[in-house]
Amino acid sequence: MAKSLRAGQMARYAAPLFLALSGELGTPDNLGHAAAPPTGIDDPVIASAWQALRTLQCERCHGQGYEGLSAPSIVEFARTQGHASFVRTVLDGNGPRGMPAYRGNPLVDANIEGIYRYFAARANGSIAPNDRPAGRGTQAQG
Ligand code: HEC
Repeated sequence: MAKSLRAGQMARYAAPLFLALSGELGTPDNLGHAAAPPTGIDDPVIASAWQALRTLQCERCHGQGYEGLSAPSIVEFARTQGHASFVRTVLDGNGPRGMPAYRGNPLVDANIEGIYRYFAARANGSIAPNDRPAGRGTQAQG
């Protein structure tokens, strides 16, 4: 009797806690706020950016899942940097240290917003390293 009472209380508190946590991670459909922008891999802006990153082969230097190789992890960078700093870094690069400047690259210019959003979502966990947009990337590349 006492046991099931405790279990019932747990359930009462666990559900709102879970909702609050998933809302913080930007999961779509949080608490019924339909206006919140989707952050998942199938958001069209993010899916397009995902494809662009593959085509541009950022992985060559930044490693599988962009988590670091000869160049540092882009996911970690997104965890600590704001939007403006992130965008500036990708567009301006750092020639002397080996990061190309991507300003003027049509694929990057068209997708810079999605590229930032992709890495922000990777950094907060709403997109996992191996997530891929539905219907994309079914063939091996690079
Ligand atoms: C030719 C290798 C190379 C490629 C390709 C490359 N990068 Fe980099 N990138 C680097 C290096 C090296 C650095 C570190 C520069 C430094 O030390 O300041 C870097 C740094 C960065 C940083 C800052 C990370 C930090 O911790 O300072 C971001 C963000 C980034 N790259 C994004 C990208 C994106 C997005 C692409 C693909 C569009 C890309 N890079 C492609 C070599 C590369």
